[in-house]
Amino acid sequence: MPEGKVYPQGWDPDDVDWAKFDASKVEPWLLTAIKAAALVEFNAPDYVTYLKRVFKDAGPETLADIEQWGREESQHGRVLGRWAEMADPGFKLDTTFARFHKGYRPAHFANPNDVSVRGSRRGEMVARCVVESGTSSYYSAIKDTTDEPVLKEIAGRIAADEFRHYKLFFETLHKQDEPELPVWKKLLIAAGRITESDDDELCYAYYCATVPADREAATPYLRASFAKAGYNTTLRIYRRRHIRKLTQMVAKAAGVDPHGRLTKLAEALLWRMLKFRAGLSGVGAEAAS
Ligand SMILES: [Fe+2]
Ligand SMILES: [Fe+2]
Repeated sequence: MPEGKVYPQGWDPDDVDWAKFDASKVEPWLLTAIKAAALVEFNAPDYVTYLKRVFKDAGPETLADIEQWGREESQHGRVLGRWAEMADPGFKLDTTFARFHKGYRPAHFANPNDVSVRGSRRGEMVARCVVESGTSSYYSAIKDTTDEPVLKEIAGRIAADEFRHYKLFFETLHKQDEPELPVWKKLLIAAGRITESDDDELCYAYYCATVPADREAATPYLRASFAKAGYNTTLRIYRRRHIRKLTQMVAKAAGVDPHGRLTKLAEALLWRMLKFRAGLSGVGAEAAS
């Protein structure tokens, strides 16, 4: 669970104390990251459609859980977008999201075969646990790094939701009437999902958050440069302890001891990979840990 105040499940955007917003505490580099996160979160309905196809035979309870999960992710997008609109009145969530949604359509959303791109329902849940490990640690890190009071509150509320999502998908993983996956296969799926973090979803969200529509022609989308910018921002947000928590959660989902040597090695590798992809030397960012 996130450190400090624990927020309840089932909160509403109106529960946020928006009046505490302090424009002088907004940091431009973090604002860009929040805009990008809002776009990805707001895309939840496409994931709901895909997951409901994959889990169509898993029973009404699981389908209801998927729908509730999607509502909460969409709310994250709406709330982050509202904060970004306060911090930058030139930013509009709905129009920016329309651009993002038009430009980002992964193949598996259109896959008509009702089969997970991870090969099985259990595989799909391992991948979802990886994503929720990433988001819970990401918003925990944002809560820890920002001094803007409203963003701090929002990040705390969202992080609490993301920890609950991890728990939901972890339980759903073990509920499936499919053969248990071997640990090596779960590790492969987890590693694959982690390395997908530089696919078009995050990079294109970062592009839409950075480049306004009227500058698209002058600044065309180049995945590599926006991936690097995204990793740079991510490295500024994370501390080593957040990467540790993330790695431990992924290890648990893969059936590996979260406190064992393999997990510690994976934590060190992930931290190095993040610095490498951000374009920093291995030594330069050690002070951030
Ligand atoms: Fe979320
Ligand atoms: Fe989530």
